[in-house]
Amino acid sequence: MKTVAFTAALAFALPVGFAALAHESATWVVKERMERMERFEELIDRVFAMMHGELSYDPRAVRNAAEEVAQGAGRHLTDLFPPGSGGAPSEAADDIWRDFGTFAHFAEMLEGWSRELAAQASTPARGRLPKRWEDAQMGPGMMRGGGMMSGSGSVSAAWHVAATCNTCHAAFREEG
Ligand code: HEC
Repeated sequence: MKTVAFTAALAFALPVGFAALAHESATWVVKERMERMERFEELIDRVFAMMHGELSYDPRAVRNAAEEVAQGAGRHLTDLFPPGSGGAPSEAADDIWRDFGTFAHFAEMLEGWSRELAAQASTPARGRLPKRWEDAQMGPGMMRGGGMMSGSGSVSAAWHVAATCNTCHAAFREEG
C-alpha cells in the first residue's frame, strides 16, 4: 500500500522534475555559449588591434589568444549547442540542428585556423586584414576547390579565423 502511494507520487513528480531540469540546463548552456562567444570577440579584437599596430604586437599574447579560441572551438563549441536549445533569447538559428554537419565543420575550421594563427604568431602575415574582424568576409573564390585558399602566404591566419566567425554567423546566427 505504501509502495503504491509512493510510486504514484513519483509518477506525478518525475515529469515535472525532468521538464524543470531540461529548462534549467538549456538556460545554462545558452548563457555558457554566449559568454564563450563574447570572450572570442574580446580575443579576436585584441589580435586585430595588434596586427593593425593599435596595440604593440606581442607574439605571446597573440599565441595565447589563438590557443584559447582553439580550445573553445571544435567539439568544445558544438557541445554547447544541444538539440532543443534554440529559441529566445538565443540567436542560434534552427538550421544548426537541420544541418549540424556544416555547423560542426565551421566549428572545426575555427579550431584549425586558430591553431594556425598560434603557430604563425612570431611571423605574422599582415596582408589583407580589414580594420574590423566583422569585415573579414569569405568570398566565393575562397572556397574554390572545396578547400580554403591554398598558398595563402599573404593572407593572415587572423583573417581566416575572423572569416570563419563571420561565415558561421551568416549561416547560423539570427541577429535580432
Ligand atoms: C560554428 C559557428 C560559429 C563560429 C565558428 C563562431 N560563432 Fe559566434 N555565434 C554563433 C551562434 C550560433 C551564435 C548565437 C548563440 C546564441 O545566441 O545562442 C553566436 C553568437 C556570437 C556573439 C554574440 C554573443 C551574445 O552575447 O549574444 C558574438 C559576439 C560572437 N558570436 C562572436 C564570435 C567570434 C569573434 C567568433 C570567432 C572567433 C565566433 N563567434 C565564431 C556561431 C558561431
